[in-house]
Amino acid sequence: MQGNFKYHNPTKLYFGEEALNCLKDELDGLGQTVLLNYGSGSVKRNGIYDQVVAILREAGKTIVENPGVMSNPTLEKLHEGVRLARENKVDWILALGGGSVCDYSKGVAASVYYEGDYWQQFWLDGHQPAKDQRILPVGCILTMAGTGSEMNGGCVITDAQKNFKTGHVFDSRLMPRFAILNPRFTMTVPIEQMKAGIYDIMNHIMEQYFSDFDDNTSDYIAEGLMRGLIVASRAAVKDPLNYEARSNIMWTATWALNTLIRCGKSEDWMVHMLGHSLGAWTHAPHGYTLASVTPAYYRRAMENGLPKFARYAQTVWNIRPEGKTEHELAEAGLQALCNWMKEIGLPLTISEIGATPEMIDNIVSTTEIFPAGYLNLTADDVKQILLESL
Ligand code: NZQ
Ligand code: ZN
Repeated sequence: MQGNFKYHNPTKLYFGEEALNCLKDELDGLGQTVLLNYGSGSVKRNGIYDQVVAILREAGKTIVENPGVMSNPTLEKLHEGVRLARENKVDWILALGGGSVCDYSKGVAASVYYEGDYWQQFWLDGHQPAKDQRILPVGCILTMAGTGSEMNGGCVITDAQKNFKTGHVFDSRLMPRFAILNPRFTMTVPIEQMKAGIYDIMNHIMEQYFSDFDDNTSDYIAEGLMRGLIVASRAAVKDPLNYEARSNIMWTATWALNTLIRCGKSEDWMVHMLGHSLGAWTHAPHGYTLASVTPAYYRRAMENGLPKFARYAQTVWNIRPEGKTEHELAEAGLQALCNWMKEIGLPLTISEIGATPEMIDNIVSTTEIFPAGYLNLTADDVKQILLESL
């Protein structure tokens, strides 16, 4: 293992069909007034909201409702949540929804007791809250698998005025105190969102895996996660109500991005930077934005990362090396990835998610670029990748 790293993840997980019963165990240690964040209404339609509110009421908690947290939450909505939390002096925050609601809840939790411009301080300047700043505890009841937000410090917010979507990874104080993962809750997720979540998981693993060439335990774990995800994704697309598949997808999502497989890795994350920018301009689901630039991005990365891509072809896609050069093997692995993406119905071009040639310069201008993985891109390279992805 190379580098020096700290591994600390304080999130307690409750997993399975009975997981929500454990919510009451967590409530004693939390304050009286809870800010209940949720999205555009799916939790009301599928009955999860009623179950959660009944448990909170039984425990005598005061609930401050904050509905309408949109997919890809906006800065404006963040301000609204912070205002609501301050006015009602909430003691803690409960996120009820997917990655958007969970991310958003962390953003509010970090900002309520910050006296200055929290957007500038945390997201634009990338600082962590000061050691002595009060941070509200966050709990998460997850209803969609994908982002890993339930067990990490990530918080992605979109400044809709500027079409600028950016994330901040908060330190472990902002990781949810607990997360409740009932795979049944994900059964009502629209199929398109389920697929977007599946690719988000795959890409999180790849963003960490495709960096460095040393022998690293994290890569072996990553390969196992990818292999499992491929099996589960095929079963879930065939039968979305397959509990075995949906539960494996949910558990894989959490471990794909909870800081475990980044240990000793330099990581990449440029597909996510491209995806965030595409998302801000097209409003497509997060996982689709990532899928749409995947072929063009990894074709480039492969040229500098041949040994790793050749290993990936064998360990993840079971491609036999006999009779192939390293380059041919790497190509075959990439082709297998694209075939799987097509098979489960993911977009492979940015046109499919609504991007047009006229948007390209704007998308380039809002893409955050840094040296990453096997590439060190310029703005011109980003433009090329987007053009190749049309
Ligand atoms: O608005 P509601 O009613 O909640 O509907 C949502 C939304 O329309 C719906 N949904 C969720 N659970 C459902 C359901 N519909 C029916 N039944 C259910 N059980 O699905 C839609 C998408 O939900 P959303 O939370 O937006 O999706 P996701 O979990 O993919 O989260 C996306 C956000 O997370 C950020 C993304 O950028 C994006 O803003 N990310 C956060 C990361 C992190 N914290 O580390 C990393 C990721 O790379 C990602 O950037
Ligand atoms: Zn992602």
